Parts: sequence; C-alpha cells; structure tokens
Amino acid sequence: MPHLTLTVHACESLGTISPFLHGHFAEHLGRCCYDGLFVGRDSPIPNRDGFRTDVLEALKVMGVPQLRWPGGCFADTYHWRDGIGPVESRPRTWAESCGLNVVENNSLGTHEFIAFCEALGADPYLAGNVGSGSPQEMMDWVHYCNGSVDTTLVRERAANGHPNPMDVKFWGVGNENWGCGGSYDAEGYAREFKRYATFLKQMDSPVQLVACGFNERDWNLKLVETMRNHLDLMDHVSVHQYWTFGPGRGFSEDEYYNAMRAADLVEDVITYTDEVLRFFTAGRKKVGIAFDEWGIWHPEASGGTQYEAPSTLRDAVAGAGVLDVLHRWSDRVSTANIAQIANVLQAPVQTRGAEMWLTPTYHLFALYAPHRGGRAVRAEWEAVPTRAVPAHSQGAASLPAGAVPLVSASASSRDGHLAVSLSNRHLGDAQEVVLSLRGLQTTGGVLRTMSGQADAVNSADAPQMVAVRETRVAAAGGSVALSLPPCSVQTLVLAAG
Ligand code: AHR
Repeated sequence: MPHLTLTVHACESLGTISPFLHGHFAEHLGRCCYDGLFVGRDSPIPNRDGFRTDVLEALKVMGVPQLRWPGGCFADTYHWRDGIGPVESRPRTWAESCGLNVVENNSLGTHEFIAFCEALGADPYLAGNVGSGSPQEMMDWVHYCNGSVDTTLVRERAANGHPNPMDVKFWGVGNENWGCGGSYDAEGYAREFKRYATFLKQMDSPVQLVACGFNERDWNLKLVETMRNHLDLMDHVSVHQYWTFGPGRGFSEDEYYNAMRAADLVEDVITYTDEVLRFFTAGRKKVGIAFDEWGIWHPEASGGTQYEAPSTLRDAVAGAGVLDVLHRWSDRVSTANIAQIANVLQAPVQTRGAEMWLTPTYHLFALYAPHRGGRAVRAEWEAVPTRAVPAHSQGAASLPAGAVPLVSASASSRDGHLAVSLSNRHLGDAQEVVLSLRGLQTTGGVLRTMSGQADAVNSADAPQMVAVRETRVAAAGGSVALSLPPCSVQTLVLAAG
C-alpha cells in the first residue's frame, strides 16, 4: 500500500499553543452543571463541596486549562447576586437558556464555581449579563471577584469565604447578543459593548474583555469597524461554531465524512474574523479570537433531551480536526471552549445517577494534552488523499458538494519533546504514514492511539468500548513509520536525543 509522508519542521514555529485553546464550557443548561458537575453537599453521590468527586478527578486527569461559565444564553438572564451568600437564603429564580425554562435554586454560584476551578487548576472565564443586566451589575461582579481594596463588596466576598481576590481575568460582555443575548444588531451591540467596557476597564484594568462576534463576516466587520478607535477596550472577539450531520449514531458514510469537512471549515470563520481584525486594528493592537463555543450538535440534542446526545468516536475524530486548526492558528486564536463539559452536547464526561463514564471526546483532549503550552510547528502532508462528499443541508446549515481530506495533523515542540497528533478519517482503510523529522534527532517515543467503529460510544455498562492504548515506536534515519488504523486519532511524543 502506498504511504503518505508528513514532514514536521521542529524548528519552524507558528506560535505558542495557549493551554486555553483546550478550554471547556459549563452552562446552567440541562444536566451540565447540576447533576453533571454539581450534586450538592448533601447528595449520596460522593462529592467535594458539592462537586462530584468522580467527575472532578477525571477532569483533573484530562486537564481543564480554562472553564467558561455560567452560559451561553443563560448568562444574559443571570444575576450574580442570586448566587452568593448562605445557600438556604438564595432566591429560587425562573431561568432560561436555549428555550428551556427551569427553576434555578442558585446553589451553584460564583464561590462554588471558583472553588471548582481552583480544584481543577482551571482559569475561570465568566460571561456577564448584557441582555437583561446593566454595566453597574457587571462592574459590581468584577469588583466582587477581583477587588483588593476595603469596600463593602470586598468585605462581603471575604465574609462569604474568599478573602483573597479571585483573580478572574477573562470576562465575556454578553453572549450571542445577536440572538438569545438581546437580539441586537452589530452596531447597536458595539455601542453597548463600548459602554460596558469603558466602566469595566476603569474598575479593573487588567481584565480581558471578550466582545461578542458571530460566525458571519458582516457582524464581525461592523462590530470591529465600530470599535476601531476604541481598541483599548476590546481584547478578544468571540465566535461560535456548531455543526450537525445526520443523527448522533446511525449516520451514513456521507454524513460521517461531511462532519469531518465541517470541522475543517471552522478555519473559514477564523480566517475572515482574522482578516477583519487585521484590517481595522492595522497593527495597533493584537485582538484575539475567542472561539468560545464549538462542537458537533446532533439533532437529538434538543430541549426534549435536555441537549444530550450520544458522544461517538466520529465526534472525537472531527474534534481532532478542529484542534489541529486551532494549533495552526495559535498565534491568532486566544481561547477556545468546546461545548459543554458534562452531559450536554459534545461532552467529555457523561453521568447517570451515581455512574460516570468518559466519552471519546474526553480521550481526544487527553491525547492532545502534550501540545499545551508548546510551540506549534509546521507539519505538512506531501499529498493528502480526499473523498468526494455530496451537498448536504440540515436545518439552517448547508454545504455544497466538495472533498474532505482523509487525514489531519498538527505538531508542537516543548522542553526537548516533539508531539505529533495525526488522525485517519478513513472509515475502512488504515493509512501507512512516514513521519519525516526535520530539526530533531530522536531514537523514538510513545504513541497513544484511540480507534474503533465510528459510531462507538462508551456508557456506564461499557465504559471502555473506546479507549486509548499505548505503544513504543522507534525512529531511524530521521523518520518514523506509523500505521494509522481506520477512524483513529493518535499522538506520538518523541524525546530529543
Ligand atoms: O451551548 C448551547 C448554546 O449554544 C449556548 O447557550 C448558546 O450560546 C449557543 O447558542
């Protein structure tokens, strides 16, 4: 069988892979926060300060560099004061996200969330309320979290158990304000953003403010154009991208391959947002792209299922394509948060009562962990086999007929190690690959692989249906020969020497 060649240039840096590119998102939606993460101190399910111990320990192993909370759409109806103080006195509020109305008991509030981030080693990213809130409310939240002077709010935070500042750097000024966050138009939102950001920056200048962008060029163009003389206020522009191709399981081959193509297409959103930013900032400030919601969204994941769906190996292989794009764009994308961290959408962990299992998407993030904090380096395929895919339309999304690359890869270098991730998207054939190494002397390393049936899932009854296996591989004459199984993701870590 002919082999493919991937040449990795270990000394040609594309930028640093911020660990935040492997961030996650926890929304008060369905069973993500309640049940999935937080069961309360009195639950029979073992917990640490109300957070499930099994989930916490699993997430620590996977690594959660950044966690965005409390929404999503939920953010623009959330009033932070409802979630502080003694739990028994917190109000029961009528909350909404994504068309799901629920009674929110506010038992998971700011202090609980920050304690969870501290236990995980995650950087907290809070999304503020623009749609139904006010600049004053958000300023107070920032000051409550980060203030270090002797004010009533800072005393209140200390009395509630956190004397030291929480040091929350990332703040979203609203969420999807073109839709659920208030149905603004781009110029109207930009004016609102300026108003919020002016006061937030005065209150606590080191905060990093994220303006709400869109996966639509026109919105981003008008937003950034309106902000062009106020760049000091805007640190990041957010974009969200979800895609759907057939059902979560039982999809056709065309739907499988189209899901891979959609993963690669996130590059288009990043590319045009970058063009807009480069044009209007004209080198005056580096404004990052916050890709703060992404993932596959199966049609089963609707209000009726509380946004839950099977999480298959297909989802993880597609996710590998997204992470490869993010690594290549590591110089421009400042953060990225897959949606969502438990049970909802493309979740790494799923729970049922006291049971918990890890999905293929969990293993994907664990496989990609060696890239965090490394320098992305150039990795080029000599010739990429493709498969033709037909046009597809589902819901509002449509794609013309096209071709999808059957392999994807990215590489990074750190502390004398080179990490190379490769996926083989072919459903039936293995791919023989020669990895040609430039700028690295090595005798070999460790290869970790996840492969199987594309629609394989893990569950409480079969938690190891999709798992990772580890082997040692040898390098000779500056190259490594690899055989990538069908429908697989793998990371090879090579030590210099
Ligand atoms: O992640 C689910 C929802 O998707 C979020 O609440 C919203 O921001 C997006 O539309």
